[in-house]
Amino acid sequence: MPIIGIIGGSGLASLQGLSDASQRLQKTPYGEHSGILTTGNFNDRKVVFLARHGNPHVIPPHKINYRANIWALREVGAEKIIAINAVGGITAVMQPGVLAIPDQIIDYTWGRGHTFFEDGLNNVVHVDCTHPYSSDLRRLIIRAGDTCGISLMPQATYGATQGPRLETAAEIARMERDGCDLVGMTGMPEATLARELDLDYASVCMVVNRAAGKTGDMITMEIIEKYLGNCTTAVMRLLPELLNLL
Ligand code: HPA
Repeated sequence: MPIIGIIGGSGLASLQGLSDASQRLQKTPYGEHSGILTTGNFNDRKVVFLARHGNPHVIPPHKINYRANIWALREVGAEKIIAINAVGGITAVMQPGVLAIPDQIIDYTWGRGHTFFEDGLNNVVHVDCTHPYSSDLRRLIIRAGDTCGISLMPQATYGATQGPRLETAAEIARMERDGCDLVGMTGMPEATLARELDLDYASVCMVVNRAAGKTGDMITMEIIEKYLGNCTTAVMRLLPELLNLL
């Protein structure tokens, strides 16, 4: 059975309910990953959990060593990766509290180590990213949602911004014109690095606020934290169902 990697984002710095857990660090050619890798059994499946921002949550999105994270997960045997990402909602259906399973990405990030294929190559490699998330894994997540009665938005385009600041209203208006439904700071280059290593990767996005300019109000940490709590509870109900299907 393949080991399932789980990358926890904001709101999910540790995974409760792991049995026979062991912790390790993994050497990578790209330096240090975000923190301890915790391997254990979760719902009778072997999983390895990594907190993307570290535990405690101290690594901002643009400083995350995405290459080391994905490399380390692959080194310890993960073949499939479920990423949990907190996001802002751009389109009207993406209200706080919604969980969405994105199927597309637009990348607005810059300056992040974003490929494994740059040095010491015998030939240049261009990996196909037409469908950046694993369709099989997305389908299973959606089925798990049906099974446990958690409603999920089955499609969305994720716009990845650089952070750590939130966006301006004009940036969000532009992203909406571009076709983005969601905005987050951590979806890239994580997704395409997983693709470069041929790992099945999908994301469960937790909408924790309306994106900048979508309400008359500023985006506050109180709002974000309120919805992070609600969404994380739903994700923790979804995960066991999903692991049953994998
Ligand atoms: N923008 C970018 N990233 C985010 C947001 C947002 O509004 N909310 C949570 N992560």
